[in-house]
Amino acid sequence: MRPQLPDFPWDVLAPYAEKAKQHPGGIIDLSVGTPVDPTPGFIQDALKAAADSPRYPLTAGTQKLRDAILTWARNTLGATGEFDVLPVIGSKELVAWLPTILQSSKVLYPEVAYPTYLVGALLADAKAIEVDVNADKWPKADLAWVNSPSNPTGRVHSEDELRCAINWSRKRGAVLVSDECYLEFGDTSTPQSILKFTDGNNKNLLAVHSLSKRSSMAGYRAAFLIGDSQLIAKIREVRKHAGMMVPLPVQEAMIAALSESTHVVEQRARYNARRATLRPVLNSAGFSIEESAAGLYIWATRNEDCWISVDWLAELGILATPGIFYGKKGASHIRIALTATDAQIRAAAARLVEVCK
Ligand SMILES: Cc1ncc(COP(=O)(O)O)c(C=O)c1O
Repeated sequence: MRPQLPDFPWDVLAPYAEKAKQHPGGIIDLSVGTPVDPTPGFIQDALKAAADSPRYPLTAGTQKLRDAILTWARNTLGATGEFDVLPVIGSKELVAWLPTILQSSKVLYPEVAYPTYLVGALLADAKAIEVDVNADKWPKADLAWVNSPSNPTGRVHSEDELRCAINWSRKRGAVLVSDECYLEFGDTSTPQSILKFTDGNNKNLLAVHSLSKRSSMAGYRAAFLIGDSQLIAKIREVRKHAGMMVPLPVQEAMIAALSESTHVVEQRARYNARRATLRPVLNSAGFSIEESAAGLYIWATRNEDCWISVDWLAELGILATPGIFYGKKGASHIRIALTATDAQIRAAAARLVEVCK
């Protein structure tokens, strides 16, 4: 029988949301990292223009979408050598089902991590093992995840760390998947794709990307895989039977999003400005900020149990995520998502300033 899935984390947080809602100024929800800035108009237009869509979409995606992803992978990620691409509905769905699709029996995932890596291993009835960043010490397995920039910490892998993970994959003949869905949101550090360091040999290597945050398209469910052609062919074959095709209007919206980068630069600036607004006031409130060099989050601690920090912030009407959602090592941290409007971020900062007077 399949091991039991963990409690759904956001249900566990609900009582703190209730408390935060009692604040006279209302709740400022900095918990779930769900984008609030509008999907750029030209992307919405591309979706609308493809609204007449009577046929089934191809699992592999249209040639135009495949070309857009290939070009983007070469130009933005620095991918080299022979590789293939595959659109997927949402990277969450991919993370949750990849170990099942690949029939993995042992899965490595970061010790402080996005919970779906563990969920995917459990769904596949695979053994799930937490590992730290140093891949030199990783045990034998058939699938490993890296995530840079990290959710929840905002940590960015160095070139050495990525190369070390590639070496692990080559030595073990194991699949290495790099979840890079925050790659274009560097702040004090510039994240790099694993595909830049393969020296043209992409065997057993995959990068996962998502337009949810990059292009504020979380509601579209638009993501894709890039990497080892043989591995992608295997995944595509299973998907042809199992479905989960990306709807054609969404494919058109993806092409528009990938062919334009100004909106990404603007979105990055928005998230980084919000981080800059909250950083000093959190420091004044006694939080040390760790990592948080890129991505969508602030990872902070007051060296107390994370639920005490969450409760203290809920009194101020601010909802943060307890670090324990991301692993035992997060038990004294909180994660603050920068996915609130500028006005809400300013209001949160003002409440923190007020309470520290
Ligand atoms: C590290 C990481 N990977 C994947 C996802 C899933 O994103 P989506 O399903 O919207 O593509 C998330 C979402 O928060 C994430 O933080």
